[in-house]
Amino acid sequence: MAIFLTGSTGYIGAHVAANLLEGHGASLNLLVRARDPGEAQSRLWRALQLHMDFAHFYEYLQTRMRVFCGDLTLPGFGLSRDEYDRLVHTTDSVIHCAASLNRKSEKSCLNVNLRGTLEVLTLARQVEHYHGLRRFSEVSTVAVAGKRKNEVVTEDAAIEWDRSDYDPYARTKKFCEHMTRVLLPDTPKTVFRPSIVLGDSRHAETTQFDMVKAFVFLAGLPVLPFRPTDRIDIVNVDFVADAIATLHQKDQPKYDIYHLSSGTASQTFRQLTIALAAAQQKRAPVFLPFTEKPFTSSVNFLSNRRGSLGYGASLMKVFMPYLVWNTVFDNTRVTSELGRKPVPFSQYSFPLLKFSRENQFQYKYQPWPAAAGGTVA
Ligand SMILES: NC(=O)c1ccc[n+]([C@@H]2O[C@H](COP(=O)([O-])OP(=O)(O)OC[C@H]3O[C@@H](n4cnc5c(N)ncnc54)[C@H](OP(=O)(O)O)[C@@H]3O)[C@@H](O)[C@H]2O)c1
Repeated sequence: MAIFLTGSTGYIGAHVAANLLEGHGASLNLLVRARDPGEAQSRLWRALQLHMDFAHFYEYLQTRMRVFCGDLTLPGFGLSRDEYDRLVHTTDSVIHCAASLNRKSEKSCLNVNLRGTLEVLTLARQVEHYHGLRRFSEVSTVAVAGKRKNEVVTEDAAIEWDRSDYDPYARTKKFCEHMTRVLLPDTPKTVFRPSIVLGDSRHAETTQFDMVKAFVFLAGLPVLPFRPTDRIDIVNVDFVADAIATLHQKDQPKYDIYHLSSGTASQTFRQLTIALAAAQQKRAPVFLPFTEKPFTSSVNFLSNRRGSLGYGASLMKVFMPYLVWNTVFDNTRVTSELGRKPVPFSQYSFPLLKFSRENQFQYKYQPWPAAAGGTVA
């Protein structure tokens, strides 16, 4: 039997897949968007090469990874009847990690997050019906807490339906949590809510650059439009993946919702910029909080431009609310249950920034080795 994992070609999902394979000896059923098995396996190799060499990857492909070429937004994921049945009868738990994080597209969030999650829940109910479902884990986000200011939010106080949200992403993810509770009333469930997931504390290499670009953009400014004492809740991806894999595999996790965040240990803008300036032997930036409004207006204006400046500005525009809300997410549950804490961002931010700049925000993917022959039949 295997864990059905969605989103394994994504940033967090690939970390979770690698952790489950290498750290827990798990078998995985993976939903991958691709035209055929060959393309799906190549896409998986791209996603997992940050975590393992080709020999290990190929061995897992032959023994513990079963690939299903499908799309969350298609009925039955677009699988044939036989494939869908095989998925149902070989799955004993689910980790739903796939999502659209496109905060600018309501259509994409509605399709992937709402219709897609409904498809995953439909599958989970079939598994439960035929042979029982051990656990349904959903990767959500702290953004479900909606618009906040100067708060420490706990897991049980996060969702308030009358509160406004920053974007369609946050609102659809909030409804995904709700659907899961309503449609799987008797199944053991775990909701994981990561905060801003940025970088791996073990090494500088990353394949995810959107948030890094926004961070590098800000790190290059001599003046920042923030309050220096505001905290920003950033968490390392290796902590997030380890928490998801460990708690999903546990017989009885203590709670049904976990913030995967830095919580009250989150660092302030001043702490982060001083550490970064010291690592680069530069002067730390000056903070002018009263420039937030003109800064935001300029970002909004520039986000309509074409080219890299426009792209950088549009990234800043979507992340800006999460940079100035001075809100952190209590992580007492996860840190006490796992007995470990996230690594402070200042300890690994400089290597991440250096790697990203030196590689022009691109990961140098290795192709499928010619000597390996074809993909697994
Ligand atoms: N990154 C963060 O800072 C952060 C923070 C809080 C919560 N989260 C949550 O963590 C989860 C993973 O985020 P991430 O950063 O790893 O995102 P990501 O890198 O964009 O990965 C998204 C994954 O979802 C898959 N997906 C999207 N649409 C799909 C579809 N129609 N059918 C099948 N698969 C589809 C993607 O497949 P393709 O490769 O085919 O596109 C990819 O594997 C999400 O649930 C997100 O809400 C992320």
